[in-house]
Amino acid sequence: MSKVLISYFSKSGNTEKMAEYIKEGLDSLGDVDVDLKKVQDTTIKDLRSSDGIIIGSPTYFGVMAREVKALMDKSIQCYGKLVGKVGGAFTSSGMIGGGNETTIMSILQGLLIHGMIVQGVQKGNHYGPVSVGAPNEEVRDECMEYGKMIGALVKRLERGGRPEISN
Ligand SMILES: Cc1cc2nc3c(=O)[nH]c(=O)nc-3n(C[C@H](O)[C@H](O)[C@H](O)COP(=O)(O)O)c2cc1C
Repeated sequence: MSKVLISYFSKSGNTEKMAEYIKEGLDSLGDVDVDLKKVQDTTIKDLRSSDGIIIGSPTYFGVMAREVKALMDKSIQCYGKLVGKVGGAFTSSGMIGGGNETTIMSILQGLLIHGMIVQGVQKGNHYGPVSVGAPNEEVRDECMEYGKMIGALVKRLERGGRPEISN
């Protein structure tokens, strides 16, 4: 069964709620194994054993939080082993123009450098789910849809054979 890891950092609970909603979307597919973990508890083994990795961070000064960057930096230990896996990102910010898009892009940059495959969003927040403050119903729907979309891509790649990874 395909496995998707949702790894997040959250101080006041907004990003955590989004992570839970994304998991709900993935769970609704019924045939994807979903692992929900705080970034601090995420191991290199978790990254390597997942077919999809979705990372969430609050927007801190327009980029990912230090704790999330720490995981990104730690992931150098499996550099070359994440090629062809599916990646995604989401964030919660205080303001609409408070740097949420740049935060998502800062995470996606890392995933792209790992050689991962990133799914864009045509309808909604284009780079990944965003919540301004506490997630409302609309954000919940968006997160759930995002989870479903990532799960569907992971499964499609598994069926079609994603690029061989030497792990
Ligand atoms: C250190 C720090 C930096 C922040 N920087 C920004 C920022 O640049 N732009 C913004 O819109 N919100 C900023 N915020 C607000 C958080 O992004 C926002 O409260 C978010 O919802 C917190 O997510 P959490 O509940 O998952 O911890 C900042 C908050 C903190 C504590």
